[in-house]
Amino acid sequence: MTTSQTTVANKLPEKKALNWAELGFSYQPTEYRFRAIHKDGKWSEGELITSDMISVHEGAPALHYAQQCFEGLKAQTAPDGRVLLFRPELNAERMRQAAGRLLMPEVPEALFIRGVEEAVRANYAWIPPHGSGASLYIRPMLIGVGQNLGLKTAKEFEFRVFVSPVGPYYKSAGLAVISLAVSELDRAAPAGTGNFKIGANYAGGLLATRLAQELGANEALFLDARERRYIDEAGSANIVVAMTGGRFVTPGSSAVLPSVTRRSVMTLAENEMGLKTEQRAIDLRKEISEFEEVAACGTAAVISPVGRIYVDGQWHGFYKNGEEAGPVMQKVYQLLVGIQRGEIADKYHWTHNVSL
Ligand SMILES: Cc1ncc(COP(=O)(O)O)c(C=O)c1O
Repeated sequence: MTTSQTTVANKLPEKKALNWAELGFSYQPTEYRFRAIHKDGKWSEGELITSDMISVHEGAPALHYAQQCFEGLKAQTAPDGRVLLFRPELNAERMRQAAGRLLMPEVPEALFIRGVEEAVRANYAWIPPHGSGASLYIRPMLIGVGQNLGLKTAKEFEFRVFVSPVGPYYKSAGLAVISLAVSELDRAAPAGTGNFKIGANYAGGLLATRLAQELGANEALFLDARERRYIDEAGSANIVVAMTGGRFVTPGSSAVLPSVTRRSVMTLAENEMGLKTEQRAIDLRKEISEFEEVAACGTAAVISPVGRIYVDGQWHGFYKNGEEAGPVMQKVYQLLVGIQRGEIADKYHWTHNVSL
């Protein structure tokens, strides 16, 4: 370390005495959150606050008509102590698209990134150290608030960013193998809102997840709502499939969330692993015999290999019947996580350094 690096490091607050390796994916209160208000057609400057509560009017459109959207991304500590975000401009863009779809004011990219950076920096003590396997989950949200009754757009909006240190989304750490059960409930209509990260898509999925869990699966797998034939996505993750012949395929559906993780994984599979990537409709029942490995991917799920899928009353097992992750998903996981944690060269310039 140079003298100036030592000085900077000395000024940083002490990390919290958490058992980082034991963290699950649950809310852990931290000291600060960022808030900006949109009123009379403009955004406030934004500020850090300490209260984890939001006081809103009982008629707020976010509460009745789900006029709200949110994002999810992570900060990770690199081996040299830098704090890295992963492609946050894609989350900013996705939130702008959701805002447009729900007639909410867009959060400009600069405000989005500043809100995320300020919330991360202010909660430095809660950012899990390198090598702990944990990360700081960041939840930006945009909600329609203020007095209202009829079905119309709010006049006031709050953009808030809170953070929470988290461990793996599915119970065991690292490459946990999960199972999915095809849902008989639909998540999103073809020209609906499935491709936006809005709360309205998720409440309807809660029952589907519960029913899947009653069958012994971790999550529901949604098929397209028109024909119930093509794979859409899992409850909180996109799907990628390693198929026979070195193909690496992801659904080309208009009803799934454009996952930042999945877009990155497709690039890695093609450029770094030489696989033939395809984004197209995947006919589950017709093509399942050609599936070699399946994974759910997302910020929270990272790459979770899917060992088994329950379809039409029957379990279908993939690589070693779900006992362990297959080689393709292991490699994709290593490449992705290596870049996200600053362990391998970031030749795509995907990481974003939060100045401390
Ligand atoms: C429905 C759904 N699909 C996919 C994803 C994955 O998206 P991302 O990789 O941007 O986190 C998420 C969120 O994590 C999600 O909620």
